[in-house]
Amino acid sequence: MVLPAYKAVAQALNRESPAVALEVLPQVDSTNSELMRRFRAGDASALLLVAEHQTAGRGRLGRQWVSGSGSAAASLTFSLALPLAPADWSGLSLAVGVSLADALHPDLRVKWPNDLWLAQRKLAGVLIETAQFGSQRQVIIGVGINLRAPDGSGLARPPAGLAECLPGIDAPTALLRVAAPLVRAVRRFEREGFAPFHSAFQRRDVLAGQPVTLSDGFCGIAQGVSAQGELLLQSGPSVRVVRSDEVSLRPPASAPLGAA
Ligand code: BTN
Repeated sequence: MVLPAYKAVAQALNRESPAVALEVLPQVDSTNSELMRRFRAGDASALLLVAEHQTAGRGRLGRQWVSGSGSAAASLTFSLALPLAPADWSGLSLAVGVSLADALHPDLRVKWPNDLWLAQRKLAGVLIETAQFGSQRQVIIGVGINLRAPDGSGLARPPAGLAECLPGIDAPTALLRVAAPLVRAVRRFEREGFAPFHSAFQRRDVLAGQPVTLSDGFCGIAQGVSAQGELLLQSGPSVRVVRSDEVSLRPPASAPLGAA
């Protein structure tokens, strides 16, 4: 079902790629989980699934994703399911981040490997999952964007909201900005890999030049990313190449950036 407010999104998606349908649910546990269930049940169609409310949103590393204050207007939560077969998957989350940032606002930055930040605070997160059914490989790209900043009292770094840079923005308008560019970016990634997104990522890189501590205790200064989207951390004369599935970042005691 497509609500009238989302009609323009369906049209924009149709112009970009008629194979990608749009569906809007008033409530679901998690748009990623729902698309994964459908794929496992044999439905490998391309779909952008929006939830006005998620009851069990999931973040990276087994964390929860709580949409700000449970109000539909507080966040945009959606997942894009596409059959995808890139030669190399590395850097996909950065390509997604760059695409979202480019479509939303010049002030947004991308924090390796999966977040969008505004003014040194987290604004959005991306959860990418893949599944195989027979010979069919499907990617599910989940995106949660705070429209209004959720209550961050008690947090060292409270989250940001998109309305801080786009006053009055609502979920259908935000989705209209990002949906077609995201499909285009993912298809381009499938053909060309991370390379065409590298320089755009560098311009938006939150961590560049910042001290970063990994969950295994390693500390280094972030020096951008490799051609495959791996984080480069300099420590003395050596540079450690960090894959996103290898470790997580953790906030160093004294540095201003680097929180996961
Ligand atoms: C993170 O920051 O750890 C990633 C958060 C991803 C949240 C989105 S909301 C839509 C989709 N459905 C989910 O359950 N998670 C993703």
